Amino acid sequence: MPQIIDGKLISTQIKEELKEKVAALKAEGTSICLAVIQVGNDPASSVYVNNKKKACAYIGIESLSYELPEDTTQEELLSLIGELNDRKDVNGILVQLPVPKHIDEDAIIKAIDPKKDVDGFHPQSVGTLCIGQPGFVSCTPAGIIQLLKRSGIEIAGKECVVIGRSNIVGKPMALLLLRENGTVTVAHSRTKDLKEVTKRADILVVAVGKPKMITREYVKEGAVVIDVGIHRNEANKLCGDVDYDDVAPVCSAITPVPGGVGPMTIAMLMHNCVESAALNR
Ligand code: GUN
Repeated sequence: MPQIIDGKLISTQIKEELKEKVAALKAEGTSICLAVIQVGNDPASSVYVNNKKKACAYIGIESLSYELPEDTTQEELLSLIGELNDRKDVNGILVQLPVPKHIDEDAIIKAIDPKKDVDGFHPQSVGTLCIGQPGFVSCTPAGIIQLLKRSGIEIAGKECVVIGRSNIVGKPMALLLLRENGTVTVAHSRTKDLKEVTKRADILVVAVGKPKMITREYVKEGAVVIDVGIHRNEANKLCGDVDYDDVAPVCSAITPVPGGVGPMTIAMLMHNCVESAALNR
């Protein structure tokens, strides 16, 4: 059977390390504060936002919570971001996505000071990642690199295939694997003969957004399989983009859903918040 990559355990280790760092910073007189903004009351977003605030409390990071009504205008939201950009006591700013349709998401992302962009979504953060300079990195792909490293999986020289090209996961994932000296291919919905491409992968990162789409026909024997998807099936059970029971017997390591990639996103957000304290001193 494959190595099961335990994201719950690894994210807990990271949070414990961060808790110690935050305590040390506090002892020096530096406190860290994250502003979390949610517009509207999408139930899934509320769950994510609450989990982020809970993680802050656990680690010792202060959080400011802004729950704005659905009909908040873009100008009002931009004005709040401007205020938070100017506040010396706020280190990180996070606007939970998606925002309501009447608000231009790109304009919101761009308005956040790159020094406080703990989500790593600002074009400047994406640019610094691309050219290998310091900056915030999108949390889910950064978490996947941690999962691989902390599970003793070498990336350098490996054939890495990422399925999915979103700005939040696929593209930064490809850049990070490249930074770690992987040989990287990005596959997507227009890729011809997807199976032929994914079968080359030593490390396969799946972010397609389709429940259980990836079966063993897509996977090389002995590959490492990372599943970014999270869905609820007919029986209300969580599952990923990978058909776990079918793929697990043929791979060398795999992330489960839940308990794989999911918990890493918040751990890396907390990591970015701690980094933001150094940037905003
Ligand atoms: N919506 C879904 N994932 C994320 C995330 O990582 N950050 C923000 N801000 N919104 C999200």
